[in-house]
Amino acid sequence: MRSFEVQTAERRIPRQSESGTARHLLDVDSLSQSDILGLIDSAAKHLSRIRSGNAKSSVLFGKSVYTLFFEDSTRTRVSFEQAGKWLGADVINISTSSSSVNKGESLLNTTKTLCAVGADVLVIRHPDSGAPHYVARHSDATVVNAGDGMHAHPTQALLDVMTLRQQIGDLTQRRIAVIGDIVHSRVARSSIIAFGILGARVMVAGPPTLMPPGWHSANGRGCDVKDLPPPFDCVEFSPTVADAVAGADAVMVLRLQRERQTSGLLPDIDEYSRVWGINTDRMSLAKPEAPLMHPGPMNEGVEVTSDIAHSDRSVITDQVENGVAMRMAVLEKFCEPSRML
Ligand code: CP
Repeated sequence: MRSFEVQTAERRIPRQSESGTARHLLDVDSLSQSDILGLIDSAAKHLSRIRSGNAKSSVLFGKSVYTLFFEDSTRTRVSFEQAGKWLGADVINISTSSSSVNKGESLLNTTKTLCAVGADVLVIRHPDSGAPHYVARHSDATVVNAGDGMHAHPTQALLDVMTLRQQIGDLTQRRIAVIGDIVHSRVARSSIIAFGILGARVMVAGPPTLMPPGWHSANGRGCDVKDLPPPFDCVEFSPTVADAVAGADAVMVLRLQRERQTSGLLPDIDEYSRVWGINTDRMSLAKPEAPLMHPGPMNEGVEVTSDIAHSDRSVITDQVENGVAMRMAVLEKFCEPSRML
């Protein structure tokens, strides 16, 4: 894995401010519980306006939002574009495949160029953990992390907690099962931190080879994560999917990130599906009202079966819809007021 300065999930980012008024959104661990609840309230208002056909405003009129994605995306990129447009901003999407990045221009020089052109907000996705943090230190613009390597995906975490609160209310002492490829998942890392900030317990299950370093112990069962330090002290290890899902208030399935995996981590995909996949029978072990979540894109038939992914229990489409509203709330909050017209 290439890396700038945030190498592992254990690396802590300096807190921006307890009030969350700093310019950048790099991960959720810079946010307090009240910051997160405030963003959820704001996103809920945007959602209500979206649903009533009244989404557009001029809150960010005169601002320029640049999306700069060095990795593929459907949901995140499009929802930031939609969010910026509905807030009245000019939104410019940079395709790295047709930009001067392709001629070897560095991330630093790309950043300087975009700031010189007039970017107020840079929304960045990058395969290297820490790239948005690096850009933030060298940018006049507000930087929003749209996913960096295996490290963080803060807006996904925020839309996930928004969706959960819609479905099951207050998360205090709720049990959320998170299943699958934890180590490669920036969603898992950021969402688990957000669940913990809101008081939930997180039951993780997955192959020992797909657990983060330090989450293992030689106890004969592969992993034991009972004694992790904050912000992961909300996490408990379950040896099987059935243990994690039994009585859960919500189930989050993670994408098997084959593009980030080195060889030899899994014997074969069919076995993974058999042992760790979520299907209707396994989902029936959760509480009857427990929603099924997945950040997308799904490998249907691998980590989740199609029947349960498209069932009444699935809130995967709600997550996507909430993503636009939450990104509106994020752009509104993190755009520096002094830079606004
Ligand atoms: N959840 C998520 O980040 O999806 P995209 O890769 O499509 O943006």
